[in-house]
Amino acid sequence: MDSKELQRIKARYGIVGNCEALNHALDTALQVANTDLSVLITGESGVGKEILPRLIHDNSLRRTRKYFAINCGSIPEGTIDSELFGHEKGAFTGAIGEHAGYFGVADGGTLFLDEVGELPISTQARLLRVLETGEYIRVGASEVRKTNVRIVAATNVNIQNAIRDGKFREDLFFRLSTIPIKMPPLRERGADIILLFKKFAMEVAAKYQMPQYLTLTPEAEEVMKRYKWPGNIRQLKNLTEQLSILLRDTRIVTPEILSEYEIWPTIEEQGGLVRVGHASSEQHSYASEREMLFQMMNAMHNEINSLKQQLATIQQNAPVDLSFAPPSAPSMPAHHTPSDAAPDATPYAEEYVEESLSIDEQEKRLIIKALEKNHGRRKKAAEELHISERTLYRKIKEYGLEEE
Ligand SMILES: Nc1ncnc2c1ncn2[C@@H]1O[C@H](COP(=O)(O)OP(=O)(O)O)[C@@H](O)[C@H]1O
Ligand SMILES: [Mg+2]
Repeated sequence: MDSKELQRIKARYGIVGNCEALNHALDTALQVANTDLSVLITGESGVGKEILPRLIHDNSLRRTRKYFAINCGSIPEGTIDSELFGHEKGAFTGAIGEHAGYFGVADGGTLFLDEVGELPISTQARLLRVLETGEYIRVGASEVRKTNVRIVAATNVNIQNAIRDGKFREDLFFRLSTIPIKMPPLRERGADIILLFKKFAMEVAAKYQMPQYLTLTPEAEEVMKRYKWPGNIRQLKNLTEQLSILLRDTRIVTPEILSEYEIWPTIEEQGGLVRVGHASSEQHSYASEREMLFQMMNAMHNEINSLKQQLATIQQNAPVDLSFAPPSAPSMPAHHTPSDAAPDATPYAEEYVEESLSIDEQEKRLIIKALEKNHGRRKKAAEELHISERTLYRKIKEYGLEEE
């Protein structure tokens, strides 16, 4: 895959990063997209596994057909067979009408089975059959049906344990993983960690119309690169959002601030630090930063175009006054300005349409969440938010959150 094509894909899907393992995963996904082979995406929680199936579907001949993403872990065991394979009228109590099931409606298309390791063992047998023969039977039926569905599945590393414990069929595992793709954990992505931080910091700033986005001191960058990130990109995203909203007095993140949020490498990580080879600090350079900015703007550009199209359709159907003034873009530190890469559109209009939660509202939401989680215990909530109890009291008053 040439790198231009890879950049185009990254821009289109909002994927940030340049490390070899990520590029390899994307490259493999694109190479196999146009086949009907089953793909199994593995990786820890929060590494971005959900990005690939859509990318595979969109780049396959099936792209004009249906795509469904199903989280196998969130469907109750009692209904999962009927959800996947359909059922006949009266197949069980409450089965009023017949139901085609995903394998029926996705015929010709792609099914993404997320958290496939959570499938009950009886469902695994049905799945294996449909993968091997294209045949399935609705719940309560005897008639064998045919379907042509491409399967992309995802699982975290625990599936190996499930196989060992007899909870996941090994034959199904092999059948699903004709093409295995591993998404690397964040801690192995070197300078990508900083790029991702910037992306998220810029997104929050744009969303809440903050005048400036957060930046890291060089020392804080080092800490971020050495930290183990057990929650991977999801954790980094949450942290960046939290910091962006809760840090009111400064826009510069230091190691001290990070340590308050428990972002701190363990002693071993500080000592025997292994720098990820392909992501040396020279490579985390102006060029890759600019590339990322460019990607982001490109992606926003695309989203604006799609929004424009949607608006046009809405206006055609029901003429309403949709005139709005786009907010001004947050100012960026001068050395980050991609002077020769700036597209002409205002890249933040999308957020304005979507949601205009103020930063106060967002802070209020975080406080309510922390209080709820800690059953109203203010001390605990304050600790969790990394603010003093006094500040929390003040904010509770300010936002009128006192209990009656
Ligand atoms: N390379 C990346 N660039 C930008 N955002 C990413 C990237 N990888 C993951 N994300 C974001 O991180 C979050 C977690 O990704 P997700 O696909 O849900 O993880 P998983 O399914 O592996 O647990 C999502 O918000 C996703 O958009
Ligand atoms: Mg997931």
